[in-house]
Parts: sequence; C-alpha cells; structure tokens
Amino acid sequence: MHQQDDTDTLVRLAREYYVSGFAKGESFYGKPGSIIASTEGNYAIDILGNKLFDTESCASASYLGFGLPEVMDALKSEMARIPSTTPLFVPTGPILRLAEKIASLSPGDLKYSIFGCNGTDATEGAIKIARQYWKACGKGGKYKILHRIPGDYHGMSLGMSSASGHTFRRAPYEPLMGGFVSFNAPNCYRCPYEKTYPECRLLCARDLERVIQFEDPDTIACVITECTNTGLGIVPPPEGYMKAIRETCTRYGILLVVDEVITGIAKSGAWFESEKRGIVPDIICLGKSISAGCGALAVTHMTEEIGQVIVKTESMHHGFTYGGLAYLAAAGLAGLEYVEKHGLVKRAQEIGTITGTRLRSFASQSSIVGDVRINGAIQGIELVRDKNTKERFDDPAAVTSLINEVGREHGVLLTCQFPHYGNTITMYLPLTSTDSELSMVCDAIEDAVRRVEERYA
Ligand SMILES: Cc1ncc(COP(=O)(O)O)c(C=O)c1O
Repeated sequence: MHQQDDTDTLVRLAREYYVSGFAKGESFYGKPGSIIASTEGNYAIDILGNKLFDTESCASASYLGFGLPEVMDALKSEMARIPSTTPLFVPTGPILRLAEKIASLSPGDLKYSIFGCNGTDATEGAIKIARQYWKACGKGGKYKILHRIPGDYHGMSLGMSSASGHTFRRAPYEPLMGGFVSFNAPNCYRCPYEKTYPECRLLCARDLERVIQFEDPDTIACVITECTNTGLGIVPPPEGYMKAIRETCTRYGILLVVDEVITGIAKSGAWFESEKRGIVPDIICLGKSISAGCGALAVTHMTEEIGQVIVKTESMHHGFTYGGLAYLAAAGLAGLEYVEKHGLVKRAQEIGTITGTRLRSFASQSSIVGDVRINGAIQGIELVRDKNTKERFDDPAAVTSLINEVGREHGVLLTCQFPHYGNTITMYLPLTSTDSELSMVCDAIEDAVRRVEERYA
C-alpha cells in the first residue's frame, strides 16, 4: 500500500470516486478482497491484510500466478529499453518473436498475428478482418456475424456487446449493432432442445445449418464462438461439437473465429483448446495470459491465407496507441517459455484430474452440486436448489455471498456467478498451483457448499 493510504481512506475513495465496470455497488468496498494492496505467488493480499488464493487467476490472465521471477525479469529489462509506447506504430523485436512463437504453437496453418490491447479488440479485430477479407475476395455481401447464446462473452465494446450471450450486458446498451445473428449454445446439463447426448446426434451443432440457410450463407462473414462456453459457467462442448461446427463453416464458405481469450495458452491442457477439440479455426483470439498477466496485450491470430490477403490490402485499420508493447510481449514470451520448461500443459491436465476426482466424489454425496465441469484448469461447479429438478436458488445473490464469505474464511477467493441458471463456482486455477493449494481450494468449496445446503436448500 502507498505510504499515506490507510484502509478507511481507500474505502472512502472507492465509494466516492470509483465506478465499477463490473456492477459492484458502494457496499462492496470494505469487504475482504474488495481492494487489493499487493500480490504474492498465487495469492492476492487485500488492504485488510487478508491473503487470498486467487482461484480465477485474475480472470485467467495471471495463469502463472503473480510476480513470477522469470516473467518479472523479462518485463523489467525490456521496459528499461523501450519504456513506453510502440514507437511510430512499428513493431519491436519482442513483438516479432512473440508472433513467431504463437505461430509455432498454434495448430494447422494459423500464422499471422495483429496485436492489440485487450480481448475485446482481439475479437472485434477478428470480425473486422473477416469482413475485410471477404471484401478483398470480391464478396463484400458477406457481412453477418453469427454468435452463440446464452453465455459466450466476447468483450465490452458496443460491437462485441452485440455478439454477447448475456442479456444483462446487452439490455442497458440497446440498440446494439446490426448484422449480428444468434444461434443456440450447447449445454448438455440443460440442453436447449431437451435432448440427451449422444442420442441427440449433436442437434445443437446441426441447428447452426438451419440458421445459416435461413440467413443465406452469401451474407455471412463468420461464426464467432468459444470452445468451452466460459460465460455460461464453464460449459465444455460435447464430443464432436467443434468438429461439426468447423465442417459446417467450411462447407458454407464461412470463416470460423474461435475466441480463446480465456481458454488459450495451456489452461485447457492443450496450448489451444481448438487443438484439444481437433479443429483449426480460421482466426483465434488471444488476450489476458498472452502477457503472462503483466498488462494489456492481445492478439488476433489468423491463417496464412487470410493474413496474406489482409497484408496485401495495405489498408488494415485496427491499431491502438498502446497495442503491442514490447515489454508485455517480452513478459508473455517468458511465460510461454516457462510453460514449456516446466511441462505446464501437462500440469493443467493434472490439475483437472486432481480437483475433478475430488469434486465429483463430493458431488455424488451432495444434494445441491448439480454438475462438475472440468476442462483442465478451467472449471465450473454448478449448484442447484434441487438436483432432480435443477431448480435454481430463490436468492442466488445470497448464495454467492455465502460462498464468497466461506471461501475467504479458508483464505480462498471463490467466484460464484449466476448469469443464467444455477449458481456456478468458476475457476481458472493458476498452473503454478501446488497439490496442497488444490486441496485447500477443494476444502473451501466443500465447506461453502455444505453451508449453502444447510441454509438455502
Ligand atoms: C472469452 C472472452 N473473450 C473476450 C474477453 C474480453 O477481454 P478483455 O476484458 O481483455 O477486453 C473476455 C474477458 O473476460 C473473455 O472472457
């Protein structure tokens, strides 16, 4: 904390001057975890002195914890060399080396990268690239964007709010942009078609074709989707779903954009979740962890063919004053090298197995754990008032608040969302988590769930 800052002053300043971009009101400030003073390893330390294990790794950005020496050294030494902005909007060594590294790790013929500041401009950039690509190919009538509802979240700009699967993120800002068309996201726990996998024969994926035919493929530029629907409470796709979507897009001449702003970079147990699902998208969006949690860096990564078409136009306009800072690229590269050196792609799989085994066993004895969804270190635990009916709690905000409170008693920051259905504990566990930290997280979840069961079920 800054020398003259005392706790009461900071709480007052937050209440008087600060608007939360994530819907937090005045009463939030002053609670444990509401204002952060420092970080240490996988922990955030708040102004009250609480040391809390961050199960969401700062929205998945700090996937290697905070302040990893290898990352900090790379960041600081590059910062000393080029202290501020991207000079004259031209690249630097670290950015070019990061571009090469991403191309070497990404599947198939994905090759070129354009750099920005955050996930929102990576996804919005993908849409601009899709439209510009079709125009350059003489097919300017292909402009529509197909996106999934509910859940999938691609960013906060007006453009990406138009592709959002969250009503609460759309409604206050309507009217949204034209040209966006939604289709149903899969959710095997609560199938929108009330079917069961595999008898459904992936009706959710087949239904995309109905939407494409109705809209007319000659008007559609791209489909944008996550693999695992993180915004719906970590809902991985059913087996074969992403391959079916890929095949449909290819057959109709529609680009497939996969938003890996959260799932990219090792967390799913593969470098990219697309690879894990057996597909090569036309464009992949990356953000958050691409700077190893050190700051605002994002990437729109495209195939060689699309990249060459775009470069040849010499008219790509999607750059930002701070888009692609050398020191963030250096930190991101150091992070990727750390993952390689320490086998953290495999560790993400282990994290999934260790916590998944324990939480599934606990779920079988609990009357309110409806579904445990594990995608490597990316995990969702959906709680329901009644397992048979899958009914949500009468007061989901109170359930979330109790879960947060009990988590903090255990020294664990638990995030519990309730955007659509039941309350879901969502986790992007740091790949640097030790076995004993994973055990502490599971203890906290089990205790929190038991307390919810006693009070609200
Ligand atoms: C899947 C996904 N896409 C895009 C974004 C937007 O990223 P940013 O907050 O960096 O703009 C997010 C942010 O949470 C995200 O989860």
